[in-house]
Amino acid sequence: MNESSNKIVLIVGLGMIGGSIARGLKKAVAHRKVVACDQNATALAKAMQDKIIDAAGSVEELCPQADIIILAVPALSICRIFPEIAALMKNDAVITDVASVKSHLFSADMGLAEEAMSRFVPAHPIAGSEQSGYAASVDDLFQDRNVIVTPHVGNSSEVVAVVNNLWRELGANVLGMSCYRHDEVLAATSHLPHLLAYAIVDVLLKQEQSEDIFRYAAGGFADFSRLASSDANMWSDIFVANSTAVEKVLDDYIQSLLQFKKAIHKRDRDFLKESFSHVKRVRDNFISTHYEPKSSTEMTSSLRSFNVKPGGHVTGSIRVAGDKSISHRSIILGSIANGISRVSGFLEGEDALNTVAAFREMGVTIVGPENGELTIYGVGKDGLQQPRKPLYMGNSGTAMRLLAGLLAAQPFASVLTGDKSLMERPMNRVAVPLREMGAVIETASSGRPPLKITGTALSGIRYQMPIASAQVKSCLLLAGLYASGDTEIIEPASCRDHTERMLQGFAYPILCDAEKGLCKLQGGHDLQACDIDVPADISSAAFFLVAAAITPGSDLTLKHVGVNPTRIGVINILLAMGADIERSNEKLVGGEPVADLRVRYRSLSGIKIDEDQIPLAIDEFPVLFVAAACARGETLLRGAAELRVKESDRLEAMEKGLIQLGIAVEAFDDGIRITGGQIGGGSIDSFGDHRIAMAFTVAALRARSNIHIANCANVATSFPNFVELAKSVGIQVSVAQT
Ligand code: S3P
Repeated sequence: MNESSNKIVLIVGLGMIGGSIARGLKKAVAHRKVVACDQNATALAKAMQDKIIDAAGSVEELCPQADIIILAVPALSICRIFPEIAALMKNDAVITDVASVKSHLFSADMGLAEEAMSRFVPAHPIAGSEQSGYAASVDDLFQDRNVIVTPHVGNSSEVVAVVNNLWRELGANVLGMSCYRHDEVLAATSHLPHLLAYAIVDVLLKQEQSEDIFRYAAGGFADFSRLASSDANMWSDIFVANSTAVEKVLDDYIQSLLQFKKAIHKRDRDFLKESFSHVKRVRDNFISTHYEPKSSTEMTSSLRSFNVKPGGHVTGSIRVAGDKSISHRSIILGSIANGISRVSGFLEGEDALNTVAAFREMGVTIVGPENGELTIYGVGKDGLQQPRKPLYMGNSGTAMRLLAGLLAAQPFASVLTGDKSLMERPMNRVAVPLREMGAVIETASSGRPPLKITGTALSGIRYQMPIASAQVKSCLLLAGLYASGDTEIIEPASCRDHTERMLQGFAYPILCDAEKGLCKLQGGHDLQACDIDVPADISSAAFFLVAAAITPGSDLTLKHVGVNPTRIGVINILLAMGADIERSNEKLVGGEPVADLRVRYRSLSGIKIDEDQIPLAIDEFPVLFVAAACARGETLLRGAAELRVKESDRLEAMEKGLIQLGIAVEAFDDGIRITGGQIGGGSIDSFGDHRIAMAFTVAALRARSNIHIANCANVATSFPNFVELAKSVGIQVSVAQT
């Protein structure tokens, strides 16, 4: 039982949603005090009789004693009732609502003091049905359903947490959005369909012999018109409150209908068939992605492939997606900080979004991402809650390894899983040192996921890493935040230091000595929220750096790229091969150096790659191998066995692909020798590895004929708009969904 169960909850409006909240709260904690008011005395009496509420009365009677007040009334009624409630409620009470529209609450001048607004956190459960009234209420209405909260600038993270906990107690998944985004999304996904249902029944009603039509209307009509049985009072409020967003999407819908009408008039069967097939494909894919088990998602989406035409060059100025490593870390540290952290430039790729979902599952309210912006309402270092299901980390080794460190120290058990590729990756590199700290972690055979973690108290250790891995280092630092004493990590070679830099940004004391390759922190301090500007990912920029470096006539500028010295191996290696790369606009954003990079074509020569560059370019080798294939002479890489345990075995994937394209390649256990030559064409398998897929897309610029790359869906894990950006600079790539 958590402390919030002692709070008195007042529900204003005991219809289906209000009644279901009362039932759900009572089911979760029988002794919890729930009180209610409603104009409908019969509903109140019935609820008392059902022992669903402890008291019924007027707002004047019940409001002054309530700790949490839920306005479960129609959208426009909120604006009328809120001022009345605000005048009666306790200073520290928290107020929320359940309406399907949000922005009208801010545009309507309710004449409220800032203080009252600061205690109000709007929320909207995406639950319910065409039924209404207390009689339709059930105790599990919100179980596993999404609830969208739309906090505003006046809310503190503590107030937001109260509302989050309330919905969590009801079994819901709490998502966060800005109120404007919420209203746009709901206009399209809920309000428009309701309007259409009302309209279709209205149309049939006006037909002659409508009785007869209704009698024969089964199946499709019943499905389509179900929503027209919804509560008229509630829905008329919704359309008035959300008129702007609904009108906009309605205009689009009318256009679409007119287009279909025209096609029907012209008996244009081809147009209709093509439109219907396209829509069916999109819907089927959407359903399998969002509503079916992950394994089938993988099967469907892995069928995406790229077709790239040969030749061309790249020009222009672009900003690639946000840094993946920094995006993951911003969520992790923002979640366990005290206060509100705002992130911009966030990578909206699948990997980072899975991390967002994991922290939401642990009770953190995260608003966004919307256009790369995200607001994290930190719960403090000890505020995470036990996940109710295994945390799915998708394709991301970084997320799994970093979270393993954090979760090992929590006072609850958790399980980490991932997609097919992640379930094959080695986790002993974190499990072994974490166990040295006292962690209790079970892996599957040979140290593979899932990781079953029993949270426990940890002690700091001094750990000499056998491999230069930022993931291992970061995992141990996160565990060290909670451990007793010092955690000290020594790296055999310099590897990315984003965790150390970001901890400093969150005011956590940490000692770093780059010369000695060590970092050290003491457990037990707090993190203070801060704002983070995520630079463009140099690992994504790398594809375009190489694209410009290998194609005559290219002149490309990459804006605001993160050039942290622990990440610039790709620049160093390309420069050593003779590339023309110019830096400008160098500055520091939130402790991370960024610069614009201008790349022009210059012919490249093969080199022997220095081993100390390996950790600095660890993710960029697939595309560097493409550069090597276009260079004069031989390029040799040794000491890079790590590449065999990335999202795919990257030495093998690149060896196979390059040989397929006619390049001379010799692979070793720990490296590769590539002799530059003429790239041919043909079909390549990316083995579901995003970086292999993008590397071969770049290779086509210097190919003799088309390159077809299979298994490209995972490009969305790190670089969701890769194809659009690639096309915009001159790469002739198209996507096929087979
Ligand atoms: C990462 C570290 C690197 C890198 C990965 C991201 C990180 O892995 O390959 O894509 O964010 O810490 P290793 O540190 O295991 O080499």
